[in-house]
Amino acid sequence: MCGIMGFSGHEAQNSVEIVLGGLKSLEYRGYDSSGIAYFDLKGGKIKSVKKSGKLVNLSNEVNGNGKVKSDTAIGHIRWATHGKPTDINAHPHLDCSGKIAIVHNGIIENHVSLKNALAKKGHRFVTETDSEVIAHLIEDFIREKKTFYEAVRLTSLRLEGAFAILALSADEKSVAAVKFGPPLVIALKNGNFYAASDVSPLIEHTQDVIYLKNSEIAYFQGGKLSVGTFSGRKVSRAPVRIDWDSSRAAKSGFSHFMQKEIFEQPSCLLDTFSSRVSAGGRKGGLKVSLEGIKLTGDDISGASRIVFVACGSSYYASLASKYVLEKICGLPSVVEYGSEFRYENFPVLKSDIFVGVSQSGETADTNSALELARSEKAKVVSITNVPGSQITALSNRGVIYTHAGPEIGVASTKAFTTQLLCGVLLSLYIREKSGFIPEGGLNLEELFKDLVDLPKKAEEILFMDDAIKEIAKKYYKSANFLYLGRGILYPIALEGALKLKEISYIHAEGYPAGEMKHGPIALIDENMPVLFLLSKNMLSSKTISNMEEIKARGGKIIAVADYEPEIEGISDLIRIPETEGILSPVLYTIPLQLFAYHIAALKGTDIDQPRNLAKSVTVE
Ligand code: AGP
Repeated sequence: MCGIMGFSGHEAQNSVEIVLGGLKSLEYRGYDSSGIAYFDLKGGKIKSVKKSGKLVNLSNEVNGNGKVKSDTAIGHIRWATHGKPTDINAHPHLDCSGKIAIVHNGIIENHVSLKNALAKKGHRFVTETDSEVIAHLIEDFIREKKTFYEAVRLTSLRLEGAFAILALSADEKSVAAVKFGPPLVIALKNGNFYAASDVSPLIEHTQDVIYLKNSEIAYFQGGKLSVGTFSGRKVSRAPVRIDWDSSRAAKSGFSHFMQKEIFEQPSCLLDTFSSRVSAGGRKGGLKVSLEGIKLTGDDISGASRIVFVACGSSYYASLASKYVLEKICGLPSVVEYGSEFRYENFPVLKSDIFVGVSQSGETADTNSALELARSEKAKVVSITNVPGSQITALSNRGVIYTHAGPEIGVASTKAFTTQLLCGVLLSLYIREKSGFIPEGGLNLEELFKDLVDLPKKAEEILFMDDAIKEIAKKYYKSANFLYLGRGILYPIALEGALKLKEISYIHAEGYPAGEMKHGPIALIDENMPVLFLLSKNMLSSKTISNMEEIKARGGKIIAVADYEPEIEGISDLIRIPETEGILSPVLYTIPLQLFAYHIAALKGTDIDQPRNLAKSVTVE
């Protein structure tokens, strides 16, 4: 939700180009308006340009008069919270003197009281945003003869809410980067300073980055970088190496990032499990090692349940993980929406093991729930795709990285399937520590074989792309869809429906197939396509009965199945390879992603940046 990017160069003059390029990589975070502020090398002042609409509007405006020369710039890409997405409300915001500019990601909860107090002191506000108070508050401290750094520090102490801020001072020719909540990554390379909401705009410049921690401020002036805390203590922060290369953040010949990311899944799945699972182990078959997970045998034997917390697709991945965990560990688990958790009086037990699942690691709802769990002394593990993200700091028992690489398309694809796989790995890890033997046993050798074959089977499904596109052509004009599945395939029905909604704007609902008869069946007529997920080894005869119910009412049936179901009247069948039940959600997800993608492409929607959405939702 909003992205910020800053650059200050030692003898460089291309800061505007670098920042606009960086904002392009951050565009998935928000895309309703954007802006940039830079030092005007001639006048020594700050210039700012702000435009509503997509980033291209800003780039055209900035580059309209030829290349701008400047050594320092900050930029912002917005997903509006306070104030409409107009030119004026776009960031950066300037103080009254025009010598301070800020960009902000987050929410300033006490902006009304700050604004009233500052207005009484003569500060003039021109926008409807919460963020503008930041520039004026810094200015106010400077009026009290504080240095820019001190003014930024004191301002940070006065702000309530969540904020990642970049601030420029024309007088001191310096930049400050402040973090409290939303992520902020900085880097120093050859005397050049970079700062951004995530690593994607930085990796083309350097792979060595510093994740600022909460309550930290980085200050860059004259080629020198220092980092301190809000309380004024200097800290030394060593860079960490990011193993994402810049090509992974490019479309590489695909029409959309989402399409590219769907096709990356075989290699991402391999990256997720290859260094963590091996043949052999205590009882033969398979051994899981999750580096970084510090759950002890006592933590596991003392826990009466596992509590998953997540939102959106990550919530559905958690629902599937609940099935896996209960099946192979016999440990009850509950799945909670991050957005509801804090307000529902959930009794957190000290013995609980919480698992936060978040692609971005910065979803405010999920992170707030985990903070609450921690405050009640629960153990917290997380599954995330983004190293150094906020969720990692909340995870007192370690992190499992999905290793999916940067996901730019707003609709989650490869992050989702790798989350599913991490759920399996975590369950296997817990099972091994607890020594639980599931009813009917668990054939670890078979499971290992299926795991090794999983990327190849995912590849086989991707080869069906053209066939799935043909099916999409038959249905893309439908106004509604139902997605049905049973057991572990029910969360995948939910995910399939969400994908379709997000990128094609078609209304779709996911349901447990057995629930149809309890109400939704009233919706069925010849205009309602119903997509069934069914597997030979999972309650297939019951699901077939549910299909009969649809058929009898004239609904059109599309089936995704790992066998040839014995029922007449399926309009379209997508036949996928068989695999072990707990791995099957991964394979069933891929055709649904392709189906949603092709429907959206036929409808001509903005697939990578669907309306009203943002990749990471850093506000509650
Ligand atoms: C998925 O396609 C969505 N964009 C959305 O539901 C997302 O999964 C949700 O906002 C949670 O995000 P997170 O995984 O980064 O926490």
